[in-house]
Amino acid sequence: MSVMYLRGGVPLEGELSVHGAKNSVLPILAACLLARGPVTLTNCPRLTDVTAALGILRQLGCRVEQEGHTIVVDPTGAAGNAISEEQMRTMRSSIIFLGPLLARTGEAHLTYPGGCELGPRPIDLHLDAIRAMGCEVVEDRGIHCLGRPTGGEVQLSLPSVGATENAMLCAVGATGPTTIANAAREPEIGDLQHFLNSLGADIRGAGSSTITVEGGRTLSGGEYAVMGDRIVAATLLSAAVAAGGRVRLKGVDWRHLATVLSVFHQAGCRVESKMEFVELERARGAPLKGVPTIRTAPYPGFPTDAQAPVMAALAASQGCTLFVETMFDSRYRHVQELLRMGADITTEGRVALVRGVEQLHGARVEAVDLRGGGALAAAALGAEGTTILSGLHHIDRGYEGLEEMLCALGARVERREA
Ligand code: UD1
Repeated sequence: MSVMYLRGGVPLEGELSVHGAKNSVLPILAACLLARGPVTLTNCPRLTDVTAALGILRQLGCRVEQEGHTIVVDPTGAAGNAISEEQMRTMRSSIIFLGPLLARTGEAHLTYPGGCELGPRPIDLHLDAIRAMGCEVVEDRGIHCLGRPTGGEVQLSLPSVGATENAMLCAVGATGPTTIANAAREPEIGDLQHFLNSLGADIRGAGSSTITVEGGRTLSGGEYAVMGDRIVAATLLSAAVAAGGRVRLKGVDWRHLATVLSVFHQAGCRVESKMEFVELERARGAPLKGVPTIRTAPYPGFPTDAQAPVMAALAASQGCTLFVETMFDSRYRHVQELLRMGADITTEGRVALVRGVEQLHGARVEAVDLRGGGALAAAALGAEGTTILSGLHHIDRGYEGLEEMLCALGARVERREA
């Protein structure tokens, strides 16, 4: 088992290009099943969730090569229509293969995706969308879907990111047009639309609540660069807020981080947002202030994935900050670890009250989920003394070489075998 040693109290300084977005590359990899030729993807992060997605593509019969940050998927010979329980369990996002698999073969046999640390994550909206596009769905010791999708009217009862993407992916291979109403508006959905359209699909509306897909187009192979990861950026900025200093991040669109940047600005940091970079500065010794209520919401609201890192950044501040988590049931599990570091936070249901303390201190803490892990690393860099962070397998699902990124910004972080 490896652990991370993080020395606190060293201000961050420097510039970094943020790696590709996990939440973009996963649906894009699934989308490769719809192409008729090889697809080359660049800016792919090296993450365990990406490895899991490549495993599923291989199981379905795709040829897959990964070199550095480039992945080539050749779906030409892929004839499989079943994903094993073992593969489905590797990550929650495995359900994203349902739509494209059905579109490609007219048949898909899956099991329920892996359990999740954030509380129950049903897939009813995914299945309803598939039904609305004319396919039969049978849930009997697994999920069995049959029939070529015809397209149709998909009305999502809430703007689920995954269900929107699954519906888009199924609709691209449908024989007729599809409208997705109450679609999620996250930037990664826009990236998926750009990718599919670059192969020849006809999708419009990503970024708005209504997405239309023409269906029936043949998709070629192609080349595409995955967008930068806004949540990794939010985590690195949280670390800079906690530790102080000045960092400049490239490779992300600041507009995708607007709500997070606004919080840091209100807390007293200097934020500069340009098309080419985002820069954040917290001058040495400058006080950090609590901010008005942070309520997570679907995009363009405050991202639930940034809740834990931003909470970590504000744990040592003047005043109080109230968080309301509206997206997931169990998303405060990092709080008990922050308490070990001297934070003063109380939670009740979906609400967490952070009473800013003067200083956190290093401790032995454990990452219990992905973004909670990023949050603990951020907190550790602002703390006095050294923090020993375990549970790194959670972190490796979504941050490529977190310790290297932090070191590139001047932090003292090391991964060691425990
Ligand atoms: C995606 C992101 C995840 C992020 C989340 C919310 C990926 C790979 N993951 O997850 O990082 O935290 O969006 O921004 O992109 N729901 C249902 N039924 C369903 C589907 C969802 O009730 O069939 C509920 C969920 O339980 C949750 C809410 O909808 O309460 C939002 O979930 P959703 O947008 O689907 O999240 P994911 O796509 O799983």
